[in-house]
Amino acid sequence: MSPLSTTLRERTAAAHRRVEATPFVRTLLAGRLDRAGYTLLLRSLHEVYAALESALGAQPALAPLHHPALARSAALGEDLALLHGPRWREELAPRPASLAYARRLGELAAAQPLLLAAHAYVRYLGDLSGGQVLARVVQRSLGLDGEAGTRFYRFEAPAGALAQRLRTGLDALEVGAAQREALLDEALAAFGRHEHLFAELQAAR
Ligand code: HEM
Repeated sequence: MSPLSTTLRERTAAAHRRVEATPFVRTLLAGRLDRAGYTLLLRSLHEVYAALESALGAQPALAPLHHPALARSAALGEDLALLHGPRWREELAPRPASLAYARRLGELAAAQPLLLAAHAYVRYLGDLSGGQVLARVVQRSLGLDGEAGTRFYRFEAPAGALAQRLRTGLDALEVGAAQREALLDEALAAFGRHEHLFAELQAAR
């Protein structure tokens, strides 16, 4: 059987293409998203990462997917403080799709923690891959300097090494055949949740 990380890539390739083609992502990539729109994306992602990272931290079996250098919620908080201000948490409302996503992560933590691995895959490998392109686009389009406002994309270790470590962690998980299928479905659902969130963010522009 193929390693889990390989199957995840194959099974989600079409979903990845769909998400990349959404109007919101195209706007973002073209450098046409303004500061308010970008800030709302980060505020919504903060909900998702806070839930993901607290859930992963409580699962010793998922420790290989929860390397401190991967954690993004603190970096998102710093970007939000810079781009919006210190009261970002109270003053910006996360989009409903991100709240529903965070609730789903909480449910998984309680009932099917192994499936959190699918979300670690979708989020962290996305940030370590396409996210590296986005850092430059965002910097240019919002007129930011250095790491200010783009800490979300800066990892404390080389992105390629972290991605490799994450794949190795995924491939070492002990999953039965049924769980493997559930995990693959969960990864597809995670892409679907992003499509939903991006549609909401596009509508809010
Ligand atoms: C902003 C537009 C995006 C661009 C330009 C982009 C681009 C890329 C690129 C170049 C890769 C590297 C593929 C490789 O290593 O062979 C990648 C991988 C990945 N991206 Fe994206 N991406 C984008 C959005 C997203 C989003 C929104 C998500 C999550 C919802 C995502 C999730 C992933 C994942 C999970 C991988 C790893 C695939 C694998 O090797 O298993 N990407 N992306």
